[in-house]
Amino acid sequence: MKVLVVGSGGREHALAWAIAKSPNCKKLYCSPGNGGIANVAECVDIAAENVDAIVEFAIDEKIDFVVIGPEGPLVLGLADKLAAEGIKSFGPSAGAAMIEGSKGLMKDLCAKYDIPTAEYARFDECDAAKEYIRAHGAPIVVKADGLAAGKGVIMCRNENEAYAAIDHMMIEDQFGDAGSEVVIEEMMQGEEASYFALVDGEHALALVGAQDHKAAFDGDEGPNTGGMGAYTPAPVLDDALAARVMKEIIEPTIKGMAAEGTPYQGVLYAGLMITESGPKLIEYNCRFGDPECQPLMMRLKSDALELLLATAEGRLDKVKPKWHKDAALTVVMAAEGYPASYSKGTEIKGVDEAGLVEGVTVFHAGTKRDGDKLLAVGGRVLNVTAMAPTVAEAHKRAYEAVDKIDWPEGFCRRDIGWRAVGR
Ligand code: AMP
Ligand code: GLY
Repeated sequence: MKVLVVGSGGREHALAWAIAKSPNCKKLYCSPGNGGIANVAECVDIAAENVDAIVEFAIDEKIDFVVIGPEGPLVLGLADKLAAEGIKSFGPSAGAAMIEGSKGLMKDLCAKYDIPTAEYARFDECDAAKEYIRAHGAPIVVKADGLAAGKGVIMCRNENEAYAAIDHMMIEDQFGDAGSEVVIEEMMQGEEASYFALVDGEHALALVGAQDHKAAFDGDEGPNTGGMGAYTPAPVLDDALAARVMKEIIEPTIKGMAAEGTPYQGVLYAGLMITESGPKLIEYNCRFGDPECQPLMMRLKSDALELLLATAEGRLDKVKPKWHKDAALTVVMAAEGYPASYSKGTEIKGVDEAGLVEGVTVFHAGTKRDGDKLLAVGGRVLNVTAMAPTVAEAHKRAYEAVDKIDWPEGFCRRDIGWRAVGR
């Protein structure tokens, strides 16, 4: 098969790396890719959100299967446009991607199909939103309805913070159109975990759980990021809890989406709060987590291309993924300053040496090759990923590799996996 992966992050490097191992993958492209993806695929200089150009490329190159990594092109209808040309793809239609693209729609689906989640209300009018906050008190969570690059959630400890969050979104238009509607929610208590399932419209295939670290600095301090590290399995999600997540959350969602006329195809990423009364949904994403995908692909023993293709072809009831028993963990190396402003173009050395540590693969996120040099060109730049019998050993291996990387302008957290290591 000729396969095209869409995206340019560590997630897409991990997907391309896994797909390239399949005996059925004859030619692999990635648009636009990055400095590391170039080792496993031919990079094509088309931005992930330039969906018309991607469709044109797929037609011209007679691509058999397109794997769409990020939410942007999904929400823009890349899967629909490919389907219209008779090209198979992995990832939901624009309609189904609204499960991530609109928090309000996702919450309404939960309410209609009895899926456990935080109590909520939706508003498109500022005074009514503030009135709701006055009536419910704090702590409370204010969310921009649309996509806001992971920044549209404000956890408010008191009512004044919540009013300010409303002003921020609805009056100052800090998130543009994404914030013209808001969801206000009850703040749930518990430990967070993520769960991933493949969905082919009708059947759901459980993958595994993971945990990530969203805060920029050690001890879960500092500003929120896209994720500074992740590991799988997540000890908090034992088999019994994972079975509840499938039965109480994922399966009713799939039935509900089919009933609403937007059947879901792709990976469903459930952000969960494990509360005293059981697992509750925080949010859905319509794609793999980044960086969760990196340790997930490392632990996957089965042919990744076959699983993704079975998802697109509606055959998930006939396949069963195999996993390594080992744990896998990834440490994100980011440019100094991230998630605020950072400089681009600094040189990174030692990546090949790091990759020689037993059980380690270094996935690239924001890198670019410049002759013999490897340059940092993004916020999150490298994902040093290790597999080992336990999370604690994977943590040790990953940091052994991190220490071989010579990049003075980069930083990473030193405590990725602390919850699991401490258990
Ligand atoms: P989201 O983008 O919806 O995943 O939210 C980002 C983060 O905000 C989550 O990972 C949680 O840490 C937190 N969060 C969002 N909604 C809630 C909620 N209702 N209760 C507690 N924490 C929440
Ligand atoms: N790691 C969080 C995300 O992919 O949304």
